Amino acid sequence: MEEARHKKTQPHPNAITIASVDASGKPSARVVLIKDLSLKEGYIVFHTHYGSRKSLEFVGNPWAAGVVHWDHLSRQIRFEGLITKSPDEESDAYFATRDWRSQLNAWASEQSQPISDYKQLLDRANKQAKKMNLPKLDSTGSDKDFSVQRPPFWGGFRMWFCSIEFWTAGSARFHERILYKRSLKKGDNDDPAAGLWRYQRLQP
Ligand SMILES: Cc1cc2nc3c(=O)[nH]c(=O)nc-3n(C[C@H](O)[C@H](O)[C@H](O)COP(=O)(O)O)c2cc1C
Repeated sequence: MEEARHKKTQPHPNAITIASVDASGKPSARVVLIKDLSLKEGYIVFHTHYGSRKSLEFVGNPWAAGVVHWDHLSRQIRFEGLITKSPDEESDAYFATRDWRSQLNAWASEQSQPISDYKQLLDRANKQAKKMNLPKLDSTGSDKDFSVQRPPFWGGFRMWFCSIEFWTAGSARFHERILYKRSLKKGDNDDPAAGLWRYQRLQP
């Protein structure tokens, strides 16, 4: 990710496609942004609305799969693992770094719920802005810092890995694939219990 960021190969080198599974076993996937990670513990962090489709699906089934593709670097990484909610303090800290308009958006948008048109979304946001003594969204001269609290229904998720596969393109499709695996069990508290990493090479 650092290499992709450094080489400016794509606007969002931290984008990952994450798949969740619904109650009937049907998968769905969407892109989110990796905002933090722990190399030591083996998880990434992304933020979202806790009432969104993906979030509700994680409540029913916390197992997820993800994939990152850095086309210009000829690399792909596949992930599988468990989703847990980030500690509130971590979500608060990240939320505080966001621009107030994005903070307002988190309050105003019921992510993944239907809305009749785009204007209705802006109206909802401006109504919320009024309630919170914030300027209207389109007002000029409002680039000041406003302190907006994180809504309780919005925050981070950690995705803990039990499987990571690094894929590097080779010539004539002689690609390199290295699969790392460890056992991962849902813990009594939020952190899963993880075993040791083992790895093996796979044929392309
Ligand atoms: C480049 C990119 C980055 C995105 N980052 C996020 C993100 O960090 N969090 C998020 O909730 N949605 C993000 N989205 C929107 C999601 O792809 C998705 O539309 C949204 O989360 C609703 O998904 P759901 O209905 O499956 O819950 C991003 C989309 C794109 C294209």
